[in-house]
Amino acid sequence: MAHKFQFFVLFFFCIFILKAQTSKQIIPGEIWNDNTGTHINAHGGGVLYHKGVYYWYGEHKIAGKIGNTAQVGVGCYSSRDLYKWKNEGIALKVDETNPESDIAKGCILERPKVIYNTKTKKFVMWFHLELKDKGYDAARSGVAFSDSPTGPFVFLQSFRPNTGFWPENVQPFHKKPVADWVKPHYCGGKGCLPAHVDSVNILGRDFKGGQMARDMNLFVDDDGTAYHIYSSEENSTTHISKLTDDYLSYSGQYFRVFPGRYMEGATLFKRKGKYYFIASDCTGWAPNAARSAVAEEIFGEWTELGNPAEGKDSELTFHSQSTFVLKVEGKKDSYIFLGDRWTPDNPIDGRYIWLPIKFENDAPKLYWQDHWSL
Ligand code: GAL
Repeated sequence: MAHKFQFFVLFFFCIFILKAQTSKQIIPGEIWNDNTGTHINAHGGGVLYHKGVYYWYGEHKIAGKIGNTAQVGVGCYSSRDLYKWKNEGIALKVDETNPESDIAKGCILERPKVIYNTKTKKFVMWFHLELKDKGYDAARSGVAFSDSPTGPFVFLQSFRPNTGFWPENVQPFHKKPVADWVKPHYCGGKGCLPAHVDSVNILGRDFKGGQMARDMNLFVDDDGTAYHIYSSEENSTTHISKLTDDYLSYSGQYFRVFPGRYMEGATLFKRKGKYYFIASDCTGWAPNAARSAVAEEIFGEWTELGNPAEGKDSELTFHSQSTFVLKVEGKKDSYIFLGDRWTPDNPIDGRYIWLPIKFENDAPKLYWQDHWSL
C-alpha cells in the first residue's frame, strides 16, 4: 500500500514538473494556448514592451479561406515572461456597420504593429490595408491610436505613403515621364514585372498618388524617431520612411533600399549601434529563404548578409516567414526572431516560429530548436 502511495506521489510530482517545464518553454510550430486554453490568434504580429509587460498584436484570423480577409480585427495578448499569454481581446475592430469604411469587415488588414509615443502618450498602430473586394491593389497604410495598450484603438486614416515626395536617394530617371501601361496590380509575388524593375519606374508612376505599401514594420530609434519599413513599388523595393513626431503620419523623408530585391516580411532592429534587417523573399504565403542585412545608418548603405537560417529547412526559413524581431528586455544581447507558419486554407491554424537570434561575426543566425527557453 505504502509503495502504491509513493508511486502516485512520484507520478503526480513528475507531471507537475513536466507541466512547469513546458510552460517555461517556447515550442516553435506547436499550438500555443492563451490563458483561456485557446490557440493564440495574432498572426503577422509584433510585440510592444511597455512598463514591464509585453503586448503581442496580430491579425485575428477565422477558420476557412475567408479568414485571409479581416472579419474581426487585430487581437492583443499580454505577458510578463513571454511564455504565458493573456488574451486581452480585440484591440482594433473592423467596421461591421459601414461598408464604406476603409476598414470595413472583409477588408485585408495585415501585419499590425504598435509603438508608444512618449510625447503624446498614445499607443499608435500601423498596418497594411487593402480595401474590401479590391484584392491587393490599394497597397495602403492604416493608422489607429489608443490611450491604452490593449485598446480600443480608434481608426484614424489610411493612405499611401509620401504623396508628392521623392526619396532622398531618388535617381534622375525616376523624374522622367512614366509609361502609363504600368498599372497597379498584384500577382502574389514577383514575376509580373520585368527583372530590372527600375526600367518601368514604379516610383515615378506613384509619385503623384502615393507610393505603395504592403508588408510592413515599425521601428523606434533610441532618439524616439519612428520609421515605417514596407514593401513598395509592386513589392520590388523596400522603403524606409521617417514618421512625424506624433507617429501618426509620414514626415516626407524616406529612402529606397534593396531596389529590385523583392523583400517581404521586413523586420528592423538595432544591436550595438548597428541596424539589422531580416526579411523574406516574395512568394506569397509559401515560405522561402530569408534575407538579412546590416547598416551603420538606418537609411543605409545596407549590406546584405544572406539567409540567416542555417541547417535543415533553412532554405524555407523552417517553413516560416519573418514578422518581427523582439529585443528581450533586461537580457543582454537577447533578440527573438518571430515568424509565421501560414496555413492559408485555414488561417486560424497558423503557427508561430519563434527562435533565438545568435550573432556570429556580428551576422544574425537562426538555428532550429524543437523547444527552447530564454
Ligand atoms: C505574403 C505576405 C502576407 C500576405 C500574403 C498574401 O507574401 O507576407 O502578409 O500579404 O503574401 O498572399
